Amino acid sequence: MSEACVVVASSEGVLRLTLNRPDKLNALNRQTLTELHAAIETARTDNRTRVVVVTGAGSKAFIAGADISELARLTPVEALEFSRFGQSLMTRIERLGKPVIAAVNGFALGGGMELAMACHFRLASAQSRWGQPEINLGVIPGFGGTQRLTRLAGRAATLDLCLTGRTIDAERALALGLVHSVHSPDELAAAVDALVTQLAQCAPHAMRGILDATLIGSEAGLDVGLEYESAAFAVCVGTDDMREGTRAFLERRKPTFTGG
Ligand code: COA
Repeated sequence: MSEACVVVASSEGVLRLTLNRPDKLNALNRQTLTELHAAIETARTDNRTRVVVVTGAGSKAFIAGADISELARLTPVEALEFSRFGQSLMTRIERLGKPVIAAVNGFALGGGMELAMACHFRLASAQSRWGQPEINLGVIPGFGGTQRLTRLAGRAATLDLCLTGRTIDAERALALGLVHSVHSPDELAAAVDALVTQLAQCAPHAMRGILDATLIGSEAGLDVGLEYESAAFAVCVGTDDMREGTRAFLERRKPTFTGG
């Protein structure tokens, strides 16, 4: 059996996925995409998983894009299927209903930037570089880049990055609203851990309601979003965690959310 392209580690409600092809800058080949699909499905079905972290092995790259050696051999029909497969992975991440943190430790290019944009948090190393360089290969982003970048950073920034193929540094990505925060390379892991600790203590039903309502509302419009928000709010009110949260407040203690 070939070596795992995605190293999966689970502990205390946190599923950590490490893209593990550092000699190829963690480029997304078929096997990596397939393993990521499986890992995200595990995260979805395992009730113990409350938070997911995605990062890249090595110090140089988060993910340097789709694997160009595989890309070069695609027929148009295979390319359609490849793009749809990648898009469905990104959409599954975005719709997981549990927070997914991208710990972007280096190059986040092409499919790497697309994967990071599908995550709910992007914490960036100051050394990270971001871009959609597909145009330099004669193609366009195929894993949702033209759509999610527009939603995150606007059409002007999207056309700039996708049409020029240029890369930007972490500070510029921060200014564009593409990343949540920038950290020195040796402080990135601690910043991710602090966020993980905070999120892992939150009530899972409430996290899911927030993740889904913000996504549904931004895609389907205000009325649909408000309708969903009311329903999700009502669901939360029926949970053990809501009873615990309100009781803890009144008893002046910290709540312990069990996910019930
Ligand atoms: N697909 C396949 N292999 C890739 C890759 C990708 N997207 N990105 C990097 N690699 C491989 C290189 O071929 C090289 O492999 P080798 O050592 O077997 O020759 C290895 O990773 C290291 O990359 P290298 O280009 O030597 O590193 P660098 O520091 O000189 O440059 C980048 C780093 C990120 C600027 C450069 O690798 C690059 O431009 N990569 C492609 C980015 C891209 O176009 N992504 C979108 C794809 S659709």
